[in-house]
Amino acid sequence: MSKIIIAIDGPAGSGKSTIAKMVAERLNYTYLDTGAMYRAITYLALQSGIVDNEDAVNKLVEGLDVTLKYENGLTHVFVDNVDLTEHIRTPEVNSKVSEIAAMPFVRKELVRMQQNMGKVGNIVAEGRDTTTVVFPNADLKIYLDASVEVRAARRYKEYQEKGVEIDIEEVKENIRKRDRIDSGRKTSPLRKAENAIEVDSSNLTVEEEFEILFDNIKKKINLIKSQNNN
Ligand code: DC
Repeated sequence: MSKIIIAIDGPAGSGKSTIAKMVAERLNYTYLDTGAMYRAITYLALQSGIVDNEDAVNKLVEGLDVTLKYENGLTHVFVDNVDLTEHIRTPEVNSKVSEIAAMPFVRKELVRMQQNMGKVGNIVAEGRDTTTVVFPNADLKIYLDASVEVRAARRYKEYQEKGVEIDIEEVKENIRKRDRIDSGRKTSPLRKAENAIEVDSSNLTVEEEFEILFDNIKKKINLIKSQNNN
């Protein structure tokens, strides 16, 4: 039996989560939303008032057990078995998560947990470093992008659907800030892996984007299967 790993990276609002979920559901693979783990740590750090204190955040993360469970279109994140899902997608967490995700010890611990989760195989992992650091040997690497305007409009729509009141300019500014931190940090910055398939979805519908990618994915999986049979 093959244990296929598909890894998808890209900036905030590039459509990674939507596409990763669609691919995982179509293939019946496990969906791994690595961003949810950074969000859970950010929420806990905010709760404890230590979000700007790296030493304290390091202590918080040490020995924590972060797990994911994908159900009915939503990733549930548990820290030491407590479900934090409803707290991780707020504007407050959004505005601080990149700073927490730039902390090397936080990354080291979460990457270790993600690599353990990947051992089961047949997964679709999504984040900023899944193609470069977490699963550098992934069978298929994908890099998704879109313009800042399009990405901000998508996030704004998500907030509206959830009834969160926020100004579109604030969403745009937050995306720009996260781009700067996610791509500029020293430890595992967001970048396109050399052998990744790149798709810019600024002018594509989700369905069009999915079709392009799924075609590539099917070809790759068939190739792997035929190699395994020889
Ligand atoms: O994909 P997302 O918006 O849920 O990610 C939240 C933040 O977590 C994002 O600003 C950067 C960080 N992140 C990361 O650094 N590495 C990952 N593999 C996933 C997310």
